[in-house]
Amino acid sequence: MEKFVVEGGSRLEGTVKASGAKNSCLKLMAAAVMGDGPSTIGNVPDIADVRTMIEVLRYIGLEVSLAEGELTIKPVESPVLEAPYELVQRMRASVVVLGALLARFGKARVAMPGGCNIGTRQIDLHLRGLEQMGAKLGISHGYVEAEAPRLTGAHIYLDFASMGATENLLMAAALAEGRTVLDNAAKEPEVADLVGFLSKMGARIEGAGTSTIVVEGVGSLKGAEHAVIGDRIEAGTFLLAGAVTRGEVNVTGIVPGHLEMVVEKMREAGCDVEEGEDSLSVSVPGTVKGIEISTLPYPGFPTDLQPQMQVLLTTADGTSFVTENIFDNRFMVVDELNRLGADIKTKDHHAVVRGVEKLSGAPVTATDLRAGAALVLAGLIAEGVTEVYRIEHIDRGYDRFAEKLTSLGADIRRVEAS
Ligand code: UD1
Repeated sequence: MEKFVVEGGSRLEGTVKASGAKNSCLKLMAAAVMGDGPSTIGNVPDIADVRTMIEVLRYIGLEVSLAEGELTIKPVESPVLEAPYELVQRMRASVVVLGALLARFGKARVAMPGGCNIGTRQIDLHLRGLEQMGAKLGISHGYVEAEAPRLTGAHIYLDFASMGATENLLMAAALAEGRTVLDNAAKEPEVADLVGFLSKMGARIEGAGTSTIVVEGVGSLKGAEHAVIGDRIEAGTFLLAGAVTRGEVNVTGIVPGHLEMVVEKMREAGCDVEEGEDSLSVSVPGTVKGIEISTLPYPGFPTDLQPQMQVLLTTADGTSFVTENIFDNRFMVVDELNRLGADIKTKDHHAVVRGVEKLSGAPVTATDLRAGAALVLAGLIAEGVTEVYRIEHIDRGYDRFAEKLTSLGADIRRVEAS
């Protein structure tokens, strides 16, 4: 067990490059299972979740190698058609291999993901869609067992624009017989990146990035080469780190348009955000003002940046209102922020953040990935020392987080937690 020790008071300055997007890379890795030949994925982030997905693929029997941010995945003829509990409970995103294995090999057995720190996250939409495509599903001993000699295209309407369900069903539809229409599909850039990769593999898909995606099933897919898009959530975290410390931070390696709503809200709060070709930079010319934010599926404000945004609002001039519409438990971070001197009250999925003059360092515990990042950001402006425990959550999704912050001038150290 390790913890971060953050000494508050540094003003962050400089340029940092965003790594490849976790939420895209994991799905591209699952899609590679469907190719008849090897695939190469570049711009792979060095994070624990990617290492877990490598374990999932190796368990299935694939040959996987990773060198200098490039993954090579070689499919096999007779894989193990299973994602075991030990790996799925560690990383819920493993369930996306369900659609890929089922479509390619006619059968799959995947552990039901259990509870998750940020709330109840079901997979009912994934399962209902697969059933509509003709899969026979059963749940036995905590596993979903799916079978279909060949899936058939269907018109599927998602009750909620779930990223995971959209991705699972996209992969399944790529090799199904006939046309699948996914309505109310997720519009996140990571879904579009998956479509880009599947298209290179030979899939026929239209409408990526819109709420209606149409897939004409093909008989087989080949291996492909693809570079993961830049991580908009990591980029947003560094922009907010710059803003909370009233510094000047430039983040490269991204598509600025992917952060449009975040930029909009940061500007509303008084930040100056400049757009480059593949970069965004932030500075804070005056005071930060209280604002309202409400999380929504893309292109709305991302739930994955809500805790970090709250940190900026803790020391704003005035009161902010935050509504969390995606996950039940995303306010678990609030108790920890209040331990650092923030003044946040929550009721159901609403939070009222009253700006305070300063935060003060204290020991705090990361409850999930984004909460962990938010607590580090709070530590950067808290007076004295903040110790952030359970940083394995941060390691799941941030590539060299402390190193990148240090390069911007932060005082942060990783030490053994007793
Ligand atoms: C993905 C991202 C996560 C991000 C989230 C929302 C990955 C690995 N993770 O998670 O970082 O916070 O999108 O942008 O890409 N739901 C159901 N039934 C389902 C599926 C989802 O009720 O079958 C609900 C969930 O409980 C949740 C909401 O839909 O309340 C959003 O979930 P979803 O978009 O599926 O998130 P993930 O794909 O799990």
